[in-house]
Parts: sequence; C-alpha cells; structure tokens
Amino acid sequence: MDIFMKEPAEAVSAGSAAAPSQADQKQEDEYLTIALTKGRLASQTMELLGRAGFYCEELGDKRSRKLVFVNEEQKLRFFLSKGPDVPTYVEYGAADIGVTGSDIIMEENRSVYEVLDLDFGKCRMCVAGPETARELLRHHEMIRVASKYPNIAKDYFYNRKHQTIDIIKLNGSVELGPMVELADVIVDIVETGSTLHENGLDVLEEVCPISARMIVNQVSMTMKAGRIRDFISRVRDAVNA
Ligand code: PRP
Repeated sequence: MDIFMKEPAEAVSAGSAAAPSQADQKQEDEYLTIALTKGRLASQTMELLGRAGFYCEELGDKRSRKLVFVNEEQKLRFFLSKGPDVPTYVEYGAADIGVTGSDIIMEENRSVYEVLDLDFGKCRMCVAGPETARELLRHHEMIRVASKYPNIAKDYFYNRKHQTIDIIKLNGSVELGPMVELADVIVDIVETGSTLHENGLDVLEEVCPISARMIVNQVSMTMKAGRIRDFISRVRDAVNA
C-alpha cells in the first residue's frame, strides 16, 4: 500500500519547501522513534535502513541485551520489541514508526498508517493440515482450526469462505494441532515449507502473501510530517534501488 494513498491531507502539505518555521525547527530537533521486531526482521530492517542512509552501530552487537538504541547525530531512537507489540507501540505513539510483518498488522488491526511494503520477510499465510482434511474444507464442514492468528483465520473462513469454524488459539508450534488431534487444520505462516513437511502436513489453501511493512503513528504523520516523509521516501528509494 502506498503512503500517499492513506496520508492525511495536512501531512502532505506540511512537507513543502517553504522556509522552516520555529515549529519545523523543533520538529527537526526531535527524535524519530522506530519500533523494530526482534530477531531476523530487525537485522533485515537495519540493513535496509543502512542503504537509505540511516544507521545505528550499537544495534549490530548481537551479544547485547539492550533494548533501546540511539543515533544522536541523526536524532533516531530504535527499540526492539516482540512483533505483535509493534503495532501497539505505534498506535499509542510510543513509536512514530514500526516495522513488522503484514501477518501481525492484519491480526492486530490497530489504528496506524501502513505506508510501505519493504519487500523482505516474505512468506505465505496458509491453511495447512493432513491431506485427509481437504475433503472437510471442500464440503464446508464444521471444523476446528488452530492458529496463532485467530482474527485472520476467522476473517478467512467466515467472510471469504462462508464456513463456520471453531477456532483454537495457540501460541506457537501450531503444527502440533492436527498431529495430536486438537484441530483439523491450522492457519499459519509458511516460509520454506519444511516445518509442515517434517510433520507430515501440507498446504491446503493459501490465505494471502505476507511481507514486512512499515507503519506510522497517525498523529506523528501530521506532527512530524517533514521528517517522516523524508524517512519514508529515502527508505522507499532503497527498496526500489
Ligand atoms: C513459524 C511458523 C511455522 C514456521 C514456518 O514458526 O509458525 O511454524 O515458522 O516456517 P517454514 O515454512 O520455513 O518451516 P516460528 O519459527 O516463528 O515458531 P513458532 O512455531 O514457535 O511460532
């Protein structure tokens, strides 16, 4: 989704080339706070930001247990959080910007602007299970669905397939669901497919493609319009380079 489709009108006009007012200057002096998703997504995000000219050397130290990192020169503050919490930090304004997977953004459904597809962290949201479950899906039978993503699963089965299901929320290793007969199928992300394969399960239906996205706090988009527009445009150029 493109930023300029969702941006409020004020934010668009605030990025003009007029002489900086006191308010603009104050805005330039303020930190831009960015919530990253701990783990591989954070490394990939920092690699992309590096190509866009934004750095934070401290973040490269894999042994560090620190959670907040600052680049004083560029007035950037980064913090590491669990993926599902990124939209929460951004919605409440604890972070101006966040980067996490579109699976999490869909599941959490927070009031934030989704501004950029970062083109990494690609995988698929799928319905998976044993081959025998194919028939249950085909005949729209009442089935049990285990997932870390109950909202996505509900939306897919209720609104797209018009199938009534029983949803069981799990917190990980979801593949166990059908294996121990807790559920008929799962709704989960599939990247290489090896977890499914090694556990005797198959992709039965594809729900949607997933990738890392940048999200922005709705107030920051107006109050820090100049800095945020510049940030997004430099990152977008790096994605497209
Ligand atoms: C995710 C997902 C699958 C697996 C898919 O789990 O829930 O289990 O990765 O990857 P693959 O297709 O490359 O095998 P994750 O590693 O995040 O752990 P979890 O099961 O504890 O959530």
